[in-house]
Amino acid sequence: MKAMHTERLLLRRWEESDAEDLFRYARDPDVGPVCGWPPHQNVEESLSVIRNVLSGPECYAICLKEDRKAIGCIDLRLNGSTDLTDRDDECELGYWLGKPFWGRGIMPEAAKEIIRHAFEDLGMEKVWCGYYDGNLKSRRCQEKCGFRYQWTTEELDVPKMHETRTGHVNLLTKEAWTVRNSLLRFDNHDPRIPYYELMLEQDLNDIPEADLPEGYHFENYRPGDREVWIALEKTAKEFGSIEEGEAAWQRYYAGREKELETRMFFVTDEGGQKLATATAYYDIRTGDDGKTGWLHWVAVRRDAQGKGLSKPLITHVLQYMKSLGYRRAVVPTQTTTWLACKVYLDLGFRPIPRNAERNRAGWRIVKTLTGHPALREFEPVTEGELTAEPGE
Ligand SMILES: CC(C)(COP(=O)(O)OP(=O)(O)OC[C@H]1O[C@@H](n2cnc3c(N)ncnc32)[C@H](O)[C@@H]1OP(=O)(O)O)[C@@H](O)C(=O)NCCC(=O)NCCS
Repeated sequence: MKAMHTERLLLRRWEESDAEDLFRYARDPDVGPVCGWPPHQNVEESLSVIRNVLSGPECYAICLKEDRKAIGCIDLRLNGSTDLTDRDDECELGYWLGKPFWGRGIMPEAAKEIIRHAFEDLGMEKVWCGYYDGNLKSRRCQEKCGFRYQWTTEELDVPKMHETRTGHVNLLTKEAWTVRNSLLRFDNHDPRIPYYELMLEQDLNDIPEADLPEGYHFENYRPGDREVWIALEKTAKEFGSIEEGEAAWQRYYAGREKELETRMFFVTDEGGQKLATATAYYDIRTGDDGKTGWLHWVAVRRDAQGKGLSKPLITHVLQYMKSLGYRRAVVPTQTTTWLACKVYLDLGFRPIPRNAERNRAGWRIVKTLTGHPALREFEPVTEGELTAEPGE
């Protein structure tokens, strides 16, 4: 077991000499019971807990770097020591912190490091984490780390407290963790990412279902929406300027506005604001062959990104495309819009084989940024390659 470091913290193995520090915090009735164990009664009990409970292979004392004294505990419960999984590549995260240290962001800091350790060093695919009903602080910590709610169990046995409670279970997958980390470093259209053109395809018989969140609805293009479309695409960084947007409109849509009244879609909020758009189109260079539709100019307004609008919008557009008789959809995209690639892959789009062959280097970049399971055949790139000029 290796110690780990974060900006303020040291995570290290528990030692018998920690017994007094452990007792100081674990005697507090506000700490143990919310986690499911009674307050410690004396130092001897704390010593015995260090020997018998905190001795697991992935159980760490949380210490402030300056004095290395234990102020809390964080652990990964591996297969056999958790009820949440029976797989070797999954584990459960558990933690508690001494009360004087609450409210300083210490637990998310420790959790982020041990989660990195779980995925990068231990090869985990999933980390589970639970909290008992009412423990809002713990819930918040899990949200901050990117966990997503899975299910609730009522009448959950809490043996050490001789009672039953309602428990909530959250999950963080390796893929979601990878996307989160990439988002912290690379934005949509991040110019540091080497640029490759990518093409994906999807059979229109296999469109998944995705519902719009409450409060939003779909609308079609109406005369006068050209400016709204340009402004929306610009906030999503699809264009650097209004002029660029006007040029794109001219190239793709000018003179075909009548078609857009059924083919171009917007997601609109209750106040009538258009927040996202995508179009069921075709290849304008070859003309409409009636078989392969093009998913065109997908964008979510900058301030509406991350709200779950993209998948319902795209599936809606694909359903419409299917209703027009198209059998297959393709979508052109690029490495710099890697988050859009992840969304397309989630929806069942796959790299067109010829494109995957030619632009393998590009797909390797998307694999690195998203960790997407559909890109299993691609090797991730190194950190240096991620920001190198193409062809370097
Ligand atoms: C790519 C784009 C269309 C996605 O739309 P969105 O509405 O922001 O995305 P969603 O809210 O539906 O989230 C999609 C995924 O992004 C990730 N994500 C988005 N925001 C996130 C956030 N703040 N934190 C963590 N993950 C986030 C999640 O992985 C999410 O996947 P999930 O469904 O598994 O949770 C949008 O960001 C966009 O317009 N980008 C710029 C334009 C562009 O790239 N267009 C495509 C050109 S081909």
